[in-house]
Amino acid sequence: MRKAGYGMLFFSVTGFVAASAFAAAPGHEGARNKIRLLAHGKYLVTRAAPCSDCHSPRDERGQFIAGRELQGAPLGFKPLHPLPGWRTAAPSIAGLPRGWSFDQTVHFLETGIMPGGSHAGPPMPPFRFNHHDALAIAAYLQSLPSRKEGR
Ligand code: HEC
Repeated sequence: MRKAGYGMLFFSVTGFVAASAFAAAPGHEGARNKIRLLAHGKYLVTRAAPCSDCHSPRDERGQFIAGRELQGAPLGFKPLHPLPGWRTAAPSIAGLPRGWSFDQTVHFLETGIMPGGSHAGPPMPPFRFNHHDALAIAAYLQSLPSRKEGR
């Protein structure tokens, strides 16, 4: 019993040493950059150009449903005058849009051109992010849980 206790201590000490070695490894700077990129993407998506207004589902009281951010939603508004091509729903973009690669998402955010060559219909705003912002947004979207089937 006592021996097992020392064993545990040994493992937690080596675990700590391994973790510190990892922290000092050259790859650590890359990890830190990734975290910075994600934080910037989160800032853009949630604070600067709130994508949730259209892309996140709400409950019957109009509150966003926790845990389902950006998983697609019916639009709660429409134009006073008919606008050609008006969409009635915003698709899920959590975990990247369905069937889109990371690079296709970055390209769309920079140019407005979808993988098929067309543009998104209204009311999707015609964003033209710079490359760094587009990378940050795509990384943040990719980090979100995508919509489960049947919800
Ligand atoms: C005012 C509402 C609105 C806002 C705000 C909005 N979107 Fe959209 N978005 C839409 C609609 C509607 C579509 C569907 C367009 C279509 O079907 O052609 C769409 C489509 C998209 C698509 C294409 C997805 C696909 O599967 O076709 C992406 C990617 C996207 N939006 C990302 C974003 C991001 C990122 C933001 C925030 C920076 C954002 N949108 C903000 C309404 C909005």
